[in-house]
Amino acid sequence: TMPPVCDFTVFGGTGDLALRKLLPALYHRDLEGHLPEDTRIIGVSRSEIDDEGYRAEVRAALERFVEPALLEPEAVERLLGRLHHLCLDADTAEGWHLLHGLLKDRPREDDAVRVFYLAVAPRLFGPTCERLAEIGVVNERARVVMEKPIGHDLGSAREVNDAVGSVFAEHQVFRIDHYLGKESVQNLLVTRFANTFLEPLWNSQWVDHVQITVSETVGVGSRGGYYDHAGALRDMVQNHLLQLLCLVAMEPPTYVGRENVRDEKLKVLQALKPLTPADVDRDTVRGQYVAGLVEGERAASYADDLGADRSDTETFVALKAEVQNWRWAGVPFYLRTGKRMDRRVSEIVVVFKEPPHAMFPGAEGGASANRLHICVQPDEGMRLHLTAKEPGPGGIRLRPVSLDLSYATTFDQRSPEAYERLLMDVVRGNPTLFMRRDEVEAAWSWVAPILDRWEESPEPPRRYPAGTPGPFAAAALLERDGRSWQETDQ
Ligand code: BG6
Repeated sequence: TMPPVCDFTVFGGTGDLALRKLLPALYHRDLEGHLPEDTRIIGVSRSEIDDEGYRAEVRAALERFVEPALLEPEAVERLLGRLHHLCLDADTAEGWHLLHGLLKDRPREDDAVRVFYLAVAPRLFGPTCERLAEIGVVNERARVVMEKPIGHDLGSAREVNDAVGSVFAEHQVFRIDHYLGKESVQNLLVTRFANTFLEPLWNSQWVDHVQITVSETVGVGSRGGYYDHAGALRDMVQNHLLQLLCLVAMEPPTYVGRENVRDEKLKVLQALKPLTPADVDRDTVRGQYVAGLVEGERAASYADDLGADRSDTETFVALKAEVQNWRWAGVPFYLRTGKRMDRRVSEIVVVFKEPPHAMFPGAEGGASANRLHICVQPDEGMRLHLTAKEPGPGGIRLRPVSLDLSYATTFDQRSPEAYERLLMDVVRGNPTLFMRRDEVEAAWSWVAPILDRWEESPEPPRRYPAGTPGPFAAAALLERDGRSWQETDQ
C-alpha cells in the first residue's frame, strides 16, 4: 500500500549520509512508485545554495551512488523535482521561518506527515527539536529520526533523549540502527520464528557459543573527526552488534510488531552480565590498525588517516558477553568488529555442541560440531554445517559439508537497502525496527564499565596491521576457552 504524503526534511541535507544513503534510498522508493505525488524532500544545511544548486548536488550523488542500470532519467527528474533546500543553522534562530513557511505551504497543510531527519552531530539534536517546536511545526503527524550515536555515553544519551522527548512523544521518535533494516537481519527473526526446527535447539542445552562479527576493510576515511571521538565500541558495538545479539538471543514475542520485539530486545540487554573492571581486562580486547596491505593495496595507519601524531582510540573491539537468563546461562557470545580488517563480512555464527556420543568408532575424519552461519553481508544467506558420510564402499568416512541458502540465487530480485525499508517505516509510523529510548540507554549502561576501564587504563589499544583479522589477543580470547573464530570460508 502507498504510504501517506510526506514532507521529508533532512537536517544535514548536503552531508555524507544524506547524499550517500538517504537520497538514493528515497530515489529507489520513488522509482518503484512508493512516494505519493505531493511528497516533498527538504534538504537543510548551512550551505548557501538554492533549490537548483541542491538539485545539482543530489543529481551528482544519485549518479554516483545508484547502480547505473537503475538510474532512469524520468525517475531522477521526478525525485529532483521534489527537492528544496533551506540554509539554516541550528545554533541561531535565523531563517527558520522559511521552514515554517514551506511546511505550511500546502493546500491542506496538516495532511502531510512531517519527517524531520537529524543527519547532524548529536549535540544538535536537542537544539534542532527546540527550534522546530518554536516555529510551530511539530504536530501529531510529525516524526523525528535520529541517527546513532545517541549521545556519547549514558549521561549524554539521557540528555539527548530528554531534550528530544520534551518536544516529541516517544511514539514520534525514530532512532535508527540501520542494521535492523538489512534484509538478512530481518530474516533472522523469520528463520527463528517461522520455522520449528531451530527453536528447540536455540538454548544453552544445545548451543555451545555464538559469534558475531562485523569486519570492514575500509578505514575511517574522512570521518576521523567524528570517529576519533567515538571509537569502535561506541560506533559499532553499543548499537549494531548489541542489536544483532538481541535478535539472536531474544525470546519469541507473541507476534512481531510494534512494541513486542522491542520489549523482548530490552530484556536481553537487561540480562547482559555487567562487567567488572577485572572482567573488562580479561574479556575485552581493543585494537588499532597500523599501516598494512588491504586487499592488495597499501593502507595507512589510523593515526595517518587522522593526520595526528597518535591516538588511543580503538578501531577494533573483541569481547565476550553473557546473557544471564534461563535460556542462555553459560553460553558465551563473542563479539568482534574492526576497520581495515582482512575482509568485509558481517556474520553471526551459532556453534552447536558436539554430538554427545561418538557413534562411529574408527571412522576417519571425525564429526565436527554443527554450525549455523547467518551471513548478513556481503553475500546474504545462511549456511548450515553438517557432517556427512563420504561416498565409498569401504569403512565410514565422515566429511564436513554444508547446506547453503544464498539470497541472490534463491530470490531473483533486488534486495532493498536498509534505509529504503527504514525510511518508509518512518513515513508509515511503524517503530518496530527502531531503537526505543530504554533500549538505547540499556545498551549504554552495559558498555559503560568498558568505556570507564579503558579510559583509566594506561595500556593503549593493541596495534594490528591493516588487512589482518585484528590483534592476536582477539584470537587468544577464544583460544583460552578452547574455541576459535569461525572464518567465512571454513
Ligand atoms: C555505521 C558506522 O553505523 O556503520 C560506520 O558509523 C560503519 O563506521 C557502518 O562503517 C557500517 O555499515 P554497513 O552497512 O556498511 O555494514
